[in-house]
Amino acid sequence: MPDQTVPEQTGKFDELQNRLKAHQQEHVLQFWDEISESQRKQLATQIDELDLVQLDALIAGQDAKQDFAAMAQVADPPPSVDAEGSGANWTTTEARLRGEQAIRDGQVGAVIVAGGQGTRLGFPQPKGMFPIGPVSNRTLFQFFADRLIAIQQAYSVKIPLFVMTSEATDDETRAYFQEHNYLGLSPNDVVIFKQGTMPAVDAESGKLLLAEKDSLALSPDGHGGTVAALQRSGCLQEARERGVRQLAYIQVDNPLAHLCDPTLLGHHLMAESEMTTQVIRKRYATERVGNVVSIDGKVHIIEYSDLPESAAEATDEEGQLRLWAGNIAVHIIDVDFLQRVSDSSDALPFHRALKKVPYLAPSGRLDNPAQPNATKFERFIFDLLPQAKNAFVVEVLPCQGFAPVKNADGAATDTPSLARRAISELHQAWIESSGGVVGSGVQVEINPRFAMNSGELSNKISPKIRVETDRYFDTPIRMH
Ligand code: UTP
Repeated sequence: MPDQTVPEQTGKFDELQNRLKAHQQEHVLQFWDEISESQRKQLATQIDELDLVQLDALIAGQDAKQDFAAMAQVADPPPSVDAEGSGANWTTTEARLRGEQAIRDGQVGAVIVAGGQGTRLGFPQPKGMFPIGPVSNRTLFQFFADRLIAIQQAYSVKIPLFVMTSEATDDETRAYFQEHNYLGLSPNDVVIFKQGTMPAVDAESGKLLLAEKDSLALSPDGHGGTVAALQRSGCLQEARERGVRQLAYIQVDNPLAHLCDPTLLGHHLMAESEMTTQVIRKRYATERVGNVVSIDGKVHIIEYSDLPESAAEATDEEGQLRLWAGNIAVHIIDVDFLQRVSDSSDALPFHRALKKVPYLAPSGRLDNPAQPNATKFERFIFDLLPQAKNAFVVEVLPCQGFAPVKNADGAATDTPSLARRAISELHQAWIESSGGVVGSGVQVEINPRFAMNSGELSNKISPKIRVETDRYFDTPIRMH
């Protein structure tokens, strides 16, 4: 039974209606009389949190749109160091030593963003809880926790971990960390914080969509929401208080991501860069990764969908792709820089995506559109790059650092099966470089607490090792 309307609620209704009317969005109150007091409160809170002026501008397309075709015409390859170490005025060893020192000095924190809805993967829980270990079945979250534990032990240091969730993933992620003893990490060093949301609007009319009678159709505000959420949640402040000067950022869906990689950190510090991004050399011109380019001395990313084919296919005098650098979303971000940009609310532009969003029709019936019907607004973290001084790019080989888990098995690319295979093949290569042999079709997996790279592994296994059945090389977790 809906509550009886009392004067206080009438007051709230009038106030909301007046506000919404000024932006032609009052239809979202259509079911007010049919919902309970707590449901009204929820809807009212969602409306209170909307920035209707900003939304008007986004719907009208008034925010500056970038002309990517024009940008592509003047785009050059970015300042970078390649996987062999060429391109910088320092050696890879110098970079590694510098990065190791920064880690040892406690100047590095880790950020994992895990707020996405993972719609393409179709896994019912947050993506971080997806089992990805080819032999161990460890989850994505456990992969990164193990890596952080290994690094903390190697450098005798505490590294705070900031995990970004969203409305869609927060409760389950918190419960998962609690129920699994923070995956071996110290609970004092793990902070889970929630990103903001943005409403979806009808693609044609710009009207806000209702997901239910008491709820707008809301979704996470993109991985660029990290900037505002780090600030709002107090995480940025906490990082500063702990002496953290650089944040190592990764996305939860790449199990090969080099979280807190000393060499990457070192290149970033040697280049005096405010933001450094790790890239792969694109394997073909139209590969579906963002193109990291340099325009007028600033580093930008042009999405594959925005890059004209002629620019994507252009080659240099050696026949190599001119715009070669593909974004894999592994960044090192200077904390002072992050503070500077978070102080300005419009630091990052919004991108629009046309998506299928189920919505409540005026009749009250849930409509599941067969075609994209809605515009969603998202911010992207890489839009920080043009604002960063001395932004720098570091190449990693895809087989060593990139195995994204985006699509369900059966798709041609970026599936869990392909990621598991990539992990096993990389670890097999490490075993073989120590002199060992892995039987054909045998899966291997090395926990970073056992060895973080082939050099470490060669000190731990016999060069005569023969691995004939699936094997997981592990070290028990020493609990905090
Ligand atoms: P994707 O853009 O690939 O989105 O996110 P997704 O949610 O994982 O998958 P789809 O598109 O719905 O199928 C890349 C990374 O950024 C994080 C995701 O959790 C993933 O680690 N992300 C994305 C956020 O943390 N918040 C967002 O709003 C969007």
